[in-house]
Amino acid sequence: MPIQTTEYIWHNGTLIPWADANIHVMSHVVHYGSSVFEGIRCYTQGEEGSPAQGAGIFRLREHMHRFIDSARIYRMPLPYSLDQLCDAVVEVVESNGAAPCYIRPVAFRGYGEIGVNPLKSPVEIYIANFPWGNFMPHHGGADVCVSSWNRLAPNTMPSLAKAGANYMNSQLIRMEAEINGYAEGIALDRNGYLSEGSGENLFLVREGKLYTSPLANSVLNGITRASIIQLARQFGIEVVEQALPRELLYVCDEAFFTGTAAEVSHLRSVDRILIGDGTMGPVTTLLHDEFFGLVNGRKADRFGWLTPVRIKTAEQETVNA
Ligand SMILES: Cc1ncc(COP(=O)(O)O)c(C=O)c1O
Repeated sequence: MPIQTTEYIWHNGTLIPWADANIHVMSHVVHYGSSVFEGIRCYTQGEEGSPAQGAGIFRLREHMHRFIDSARIYRMPLPYSLDQLCDAVVEVVESNGAAPCYIRPVAFRGYGEIGVNPLKSPVEIYIANFPWGNFMPHHGGADVCVSSWNRLAPNTMPSLAKAGANYMNSQLIRMEAEINGYAEGIALDRNGYLSEGSGENLFLVREGKLYTSPLANSVLNGITRASIIQLARQFGIEVVEQALPRELLYVCDEAFFTGTAAEVSHLRSVDRILIGDGTMGPVTTLLHDEFFGLVNGRKADRFGWLTPVRIKTAEQETVNA
C-alpha cells in the first residue's frame, strides 16, 4: 500500500513540500543503512462513531528521547534539544492537519563521502507524518510462528538503537513469516531465548503473571512495552522480566504483541499451536481495553501520555467536506 502523502515534511528546521524531500542516491545511508528513526502515533480522542474531540501524540517525549539515544549510540550529532525536536513534531503535525496519523522522524548520514566511515557525511533530519489507522487487522488474533532467523546478537548491532539497519533482520523475519502463511514471526535471541517480533515486543501470560523478555535479550526498549508494564503494575498484576524459553510460548495462557504499529495485538496461535483457547484472554483484554481507553480519550490521561495538537481531525474534515 503506498503512503498517503501530506503537504509538508520538516527538514533540518524548516517545513518543505512533501515532494521536495529527496536525497541523492550516493548518500551514505543508501549504501550502509546509517539511519535512526522513530515511529509515533497521534490518536484522536472521543467516543467511537462520533466526531473527534481532539488529537494527541502518544508519549512524544519518550519517543524523541529514544531518537536522541539512538543517534548518540551511532555518534550522530543532532543539533536540536529534546524540547526542540518535540516542538518540531507538533509543528509538522499541526501544519499538515490530519489525525489520526503516524509520525516518522528520521536522521541519517547524507551526501558526503562514500567510504564506510560515516563521520564525514552530514546528518540530515526529517520528520514526516501521514494519516494512518490499524496495522494488524487480526481482530480474531494473529497466527504467528517462531522465526528461523535469530535477533541481533549482543555487541553486533545494538538493539536499543532504533536504527534503519536493524530492520534488515526484521525484514528477513517478516518475509519468512508471510511466505509461510503467518501474520508475523517471533525471533529468538542468539542463545535461543524469546526476543521479539520483527517490529513488536512480546508478552506472555501464565497463571495470572505477565512475562516479557528483558532488554538484554536483544529487544527494542519499546515505549508501548513500558506503558503496558506500567498499566499492569497499576492493576496489581505481577510483571516478570526474565529470559524466557521458547516453549513457554506453547504452554502460556495468553500472548500478545505491543508496539506503536501493533498497539496491543493478541496472538491466537504460535507454530499452529493454539494459545489458550485462541481467544483474547482476560489479562490481555484488561490491558488492551485500558490502553485504548487512554489513547482514545475514553479514560482520563492520568499519566500525561498525550501531547495535545491543534488540528482538524480526519472525521471533522469528512463532516466539513
Ligand atoms: C523491533 C521492534 N521492537 C519493538 C517495537 C515496539 O516499540 P514501540 O512500542 O516503542 O513502538 C518496535 C516498534 O517500534 C520495533 O521495531
